[in-house]
Amino acid sequence: MASFTLFHLFIAIILHVFLAATPIFSVSEQLSSSTIPTRFLDFAKKPETFDWMVNIRRKIHEYPELLYEEFKTSELIRIELDKLGISYKHPVAGTGVIGYIGTRKPPFVALRADMDALPMQEMVEWEHKSKVPGKMHACGHDAHVTMVLGAANILKQHEKEIQGTVVLVFQPAEEGGAGAKKVIEAGALKDVGAIFGLHVAPNIRVGEVGSRSGTLMAASGFFEATINGKGGHAAIPQHSIDPILAASNVIVSLQHLVSRESDPLDSQVVTVAKFQGGDAFNVIPDSVTIGGTFRAFSKESFLQLRHRIEQVIVAQAAVQRCNATVNFLEGEKPFYPATINDGKLHKHFQTVAGTLLGASKVIEVPPMMGAEDYSFYQEVIPGYFFWLGMQNASNERLHSLHSPFFTVNEDALPYGAALHASLAATYLLKHQNVVPFVEAMYNDEL
Ligand code: NI
Repeated sequence: MASFTLFHLFIAIILHVFLAATPIFSVSEQLSSSTIPTRFLDFAKKPETFDWMVNIRRKIHEYPELLYEEFKTSELIRIELDKLGISYKHPVAGTGVIGYIGTRKPPFVALRADMDALPMQEMVEWEHKSKVPGKMHACGHDAHVTMVLGAANILKQHEKEIQGTVVLVFQPAEEGGAGAKKVIEAGALKDVGAIFGLHVAPNIRVGEVGSRSGTLMAASGFFEATINGKGGHAAIPQHSIDPILAASNVIVSLQHLVSRESDPLDSQVVTVAKFQGGDAFNVIPDSVTIGGTFRAFSKESFLQLRHRIEQVIVAQAAVQRCNATVNFLEGEKPFYPATINDGKLHKHFQTVAGTLLGASKVIEVPPMMGAEDYSFYQEVIPGYFFWLGMQNASNERLHSLHSPFFTVNEDALPYGAALHASLAATYLLKHQNVVPFVEAMYNDEL
C-alpha cells in the first residue's frame, strides 16, 4: 500500500510537471492556430469576398450618418448578418448591433467597429461620393464596419474552428459621443476576455500595420468659456470693460500651462481653437466665447490640466475686470481616457500579424495625441488597438483623416478583415481553459 501510494504520487508529479510545461492548447490546435492567419487572408482576398466588402463599404460611404443617428448603417449591418446566418442583439446603445459567432460559450473575445461619420462636405469627386450634403465618412468608419463584417463572414465560414464565442461590436458615436461607454453600460461586454480594434492609417503602407504596447493615444477633453465684460463705444474704452483684451490674455496664459508647468517629458497639449466675439469695427462687445481641447497621456496630468485651465481662465479674466464661466461639456462631449494597449495582447498581435503579413510589416509606432473612445473598453477589459496601413506602394500621399479629400484604399479591406478574424480565432484557441480537467485527473489519481 505504502509503495503503491509512493509510485502513484511519483506518476502524479511527473504528470503535473509535464502538463505544466505543455502549452495549454493541443497539437492540432497549435497547427490550426499557426495556419489560421494565412487561410483567413486567402479567404478575404478571394474576388467574391473582396467585391462583397467593397460593395458594402461604398453603400455605407454614400449614406454617412452622424453620431447616434446611424440608422441606415445599423440596418445594413443587420441585413448582412442575417444573410450570413449570424445572430445579434439590437438595439444596443441606440443604433448599436452586437453579433455572436461560435459556441455561445466561454471564452469570449470581441471585435469592434465604429459606425459614425463626420459633419463635413466631401470634396472627392467619384462615383460613390456622399449623397448627404454636409456629411462624410472622412475617418474611414465605413471601412471599419466593412472589415468587421468581413471578419464575420470569414469566421462564420470557419465556425467549426471557433472554440468559444466571437462578439461583434458595431458601436455608435465614436466621434465625440463616447458610444463605447454606452455599449459597456448596456452590458454588451459581459464575460468578454479581450477586445481588438483597428483604425485605417493613411500614412502606413497597405499590407502593413502599426501599433505599440502601452499608451497609443492620449486622453482628451474639451472646454468652452464665456468671458463677460461690458460693451460700449470702441472710441470711448474707459466706459467699457473689454472682454476681447481679457480673452486674448487668457489665451496667452493658457499657453503657459504646458510650456511652464508640465514636465517636458510628459507630452500634453492645450489648444484654443475657437474665439468668437464682436461683429462691428467700432463696438466693444459684451462678451467673448473661447473654446478648445486639452490632451495628456496620464490621468494625473489630464486632471491637473483641467483644474488649471479653469483656474487660469477665471483668474486671468478677473485681472481685466471680466467674469468668466468655464464649461467642460462633459454631458455632450465626455472626456476620453488614454488608449492603452495590453502588453500580453501586444505579443498576441505581433505573432498573428507577423504570420499574416510578415514580421517586417508589423511596425512599432510612437504614441500620438489624438484620442479614441476605444479607450473606454480598455478601462474595463484588456484591449488592443492598431493602425491598418492604406498607403499605396507607389507612395502616393493620401489625405489625412478628417480631411474633405480623405479616401479609403479598398485594397486594405482584406487585411483588416483577416486580421480581425485571425486575432479573435487564435485568441480563443489560446484561452481554452483546461485547468479544471487537469485538476480533476490529479484528484482522481490521489
Ligand atoms: Ni476615426
